[in-house]
Amino acid sequence: MTRDATRRTKARYDRIAPIYDRMEAVVEELAFRRWRKKLWAHVDGGRVLEVGVGTGKNILYHPEGAGVTAVDISDRMLERARQRAWDLQADMGLTLMDAERLGFPDAVFDAAVATFVFCSVPDPVKALKEVDRVVKPGGRIVLLEHVRVNRPIVGQLMDLLDPLVLRLMGPHISRRTAENVAKAGLETERVEELTAGGLVKLIIARSSGKTEG
Ligand SMILES: C[S@@+](CC[C@H](N)C(=O)[O-])C[C@H]1O[C@@H](n2cnc3c(N)ncnc32)[C@H](O)[C@@H]1O
Repeated sequence: MTRDATRRTKARYDRIAPIYDRMEAVVEELAFRRWRKKLWAHVDGGRVLEVGVGTGKNILYHPEGAGVTAVDISDRMLERARQRAWDLQADMGLTLMDAERLGFPDAVFDAAVATFVFCSVPDPVKALKEVDRVVKPGGRIVLLEHVRVNRPIVGQLMDLLDPLVLRLMGPHISRRTAENVAKAGLETERVEELTAGGLVKLIIARSSGKTEG
């Protein structure tokens, strides 16, 4: 994926950062909170990487004893995450970093999480390989993602609208993230459908132990 695509992604999230939490307030209340709690229940603690931290909405749900290092490509989203970490007195690391080029050594994290991120990363398979590389072999990689619905008309409509939604809001709506997890070589433990039609999935995988990115 080109650096241009990455720059465009960063610019989109920098642009929507001031309104991001308000944009999502209703769905956050109705569903996301519950799903975030569910995701974090699969993380035991230890050294945890959060990819695409955004405005830091997961901070509330960090398990006790976890040392979380969070990265994002957007300075503006990170600014908000820093403020939230400060408000919640969360002791965590927050760093500007591209998920496709993680600046961490191999196998340093016990687990990794991401919520609604691999719909935005320009090259999701490359980024998933990077996550695989930095998590210890067998360590959990837990993702909460909206994905392309695997039904004829709805799926095709999502493919059609994908470029427009990408331009206006930032994410792709037709990503096949469960398939991308397998393509990146991670070992899928379980995929849980959180909504009817398979629009939102909780993907629980394990690091393969491969070290090449
Ligand atoms: C839809 S937001 C989700 C934010 C947060 N995880 C949440 O649940 O609210 C996607 C986030 O992924 C970040 N992102 C996109 N591409 C990225 C990349 N290549 N590396 C790191 N972060 C990226 C964006 O900047 C944005 O903050």
